[in-house]
Amino acid sequence: MAAQLPRRICCIGAGYVGGPTMAVIADRCPQIDVTVVDLNAERIALWNHDDLSRLPVYEPGLDAVVARCRGRNLHFSTAVEEAIAAADMVFLSVNTPTKTRGLGAGQASDLKWIEASARTVAKAARGHTIVVEKSTLPVRTAEAVKAILGCAEPGQSFAVLSNPEFLAEGTAVADLEAPDRVLIGGEDPEAIEALAAIYAHWVPQQRILRTNIWSSELGKLAANAFLAQRVSSINSIAAFCEASGADVNEVARAIGSDSRIGPKFLKAGPGFGGSCFQKDILNLVYLCRHYGLQEVAGYWEQVVSLNSWQQHRIARLVVQRLFGTVTGKRLVLLGFAFKADTNDTRASPAIQIARDLIEEGAHLQILDPKVSPAQIEADLGQPPGQGEASWAPCASLEQGATGADALLLLTEWQQFSRIDWAATAALMRRPAWLFDARGSADQQAARAAGLNVWRVGEG
Ligand code: NAD
Ligand code: UGA
Repeated sequence: MAAQLPRRICCIGAGYVGGPTMAVIADRCPQIDVTVVDLNAERIALWNHDDLSRLPVYEPGLDAVVARCRGRNLHFSTAVEEAIAAADMVFLSVNTPTKTRGLGAGQASDLKWIEASARTVAKAARGHTIVVEKSTLPVRTAEAVKAILGCAEPGQSFAVLSNPEFLAEGTAVADLEAPDRVLIGGEDPEAIEALAAIYAHWVPQQRILRTNIWSSELGKLAANAFLAQRVSSINSIAAFCEASGADVNEVARAIGSDSRIGPKFLKAGPGFGGSCFQKDILNLVYLCRHYGLQEVAGYWEQVVSLNSWQQHRIARLVVQRLFGTVTGKRLVLLGFAFKADTNDTRASPAIQIARDLIEEGAHLQILDPKVSPAQIEADLGQPPGQGEASWAPCASLEQGATGADALLLLTEWQQFSRIDWAATAALMRRPAWLFDARGSADQQAARAAGLNVWRVGEG
């Protein structure tokens, strides 16, 4: 069947997924007009900012893609209904965080933004519209979306597809340009082929997987659950290495050399963060309970429990190594983003570790190349300050390290692997510590500079 390539696409949600995904589609398909819409006018203004270093999402290479397409066939706008009315395909790429109250609070995904955007599509769409779930959604959400769209007015018709996104932050552009696979779930062959035709501009056919809609929704949740499980597995082994004298890097190499297991996602650290792993597993847990699968729910829940244990464990061992108290001590957090190469702090392990240390009375100096002090303030729920139980942004490593008792490496930013340890250690109060929760610092140099060094997973 010769697929009908959409001429106009609208994407609702100009966030970490909507922005980069649509930018790459616009780049690869110059004949398609792409409009990304959002209710958040400030975010849209930043996407339209002349200074590309101010895009609201920091991703390596994204500025160049946006520079090529913006104003040509890529537009960012707050005129949501207008863009929907003009489009023959609408992506729903809105946030789906964990519910904070009511039924399923703390586990189920909050679908209010998906419902609101589906209702806006129902109201504004004209003619035949293919609606694509890009957000990560609980299995069978498409049923709800279809029900909302089912009350179509005369002159409207809809097809609903699931097309979850697998990009990782920090490598979003590379992941979008060369995905391992694109997953399209649906029932309407014409709609499936129309979406596949977009990706076929740059993704080989064998990587475009077509499934039923429920497998596609679940495939996304399960992929994140498997990835997060690997992180919790290696972090559990890291704790055991520390207790037993083994080294987690060597163990990871031993495990990862087995071609059935593979070497990726075996890096021990302060626990996984990011907006999705915890939310998606908790959602899976909630759905398992809903279907009466208690044991399956318990199995996956443990992946999240181990992750929060790892975060508390790191804060605890810092306190223990610093003679059992950090009250009034100056500690420098190197990194606050949940991983390198992103400005995203959602569910960052640094947040929990910082909170635990502030609770213990420490004064934290926080240094991150891409995270703003305003974001840190929002995440920690307290303004910057001085003295006991406080935090302050630090302008430079020199400023932060002066008089500090310890440095905690929490995000594996490249620049932290190139620190001049002799110069830094000279500024600190002795005995001084480096706690390397990412295993990415030059330990030898830090030790040679007279620092005590703890590294995750080193026995
Ligand atoms: P985000 O919060 O960065 O962006 C969502 C945007 O949607 C916000 O800007 C919000 O203002 C907008 N929005 C919400 N309701 C709206 C409405 N009714 N009309 C117009 N705009 C509306 O979220 P994100 O990180 O881009 O994630 C979006 C979805 O993609 C989530 O389901 C997430 O699980 C999934 N996902 C995220 C990633 C990631 O790396 N962040 C990767 C894969 C999948
Ligand atoms: C993850 C998945 O990798 C994406 O495929 C998925 O699309 C996305 O979630 C999503 O649904 O949001 P992301 O969270 O952006 O992407 O980043 P990852 O590279 O997966 O890292 C997640 C967390 O695990 C980070 O805190 C990272 O530091 C940690 N991690 C990862 C480790 O501690 N060790 C590892 O070996 C790998």
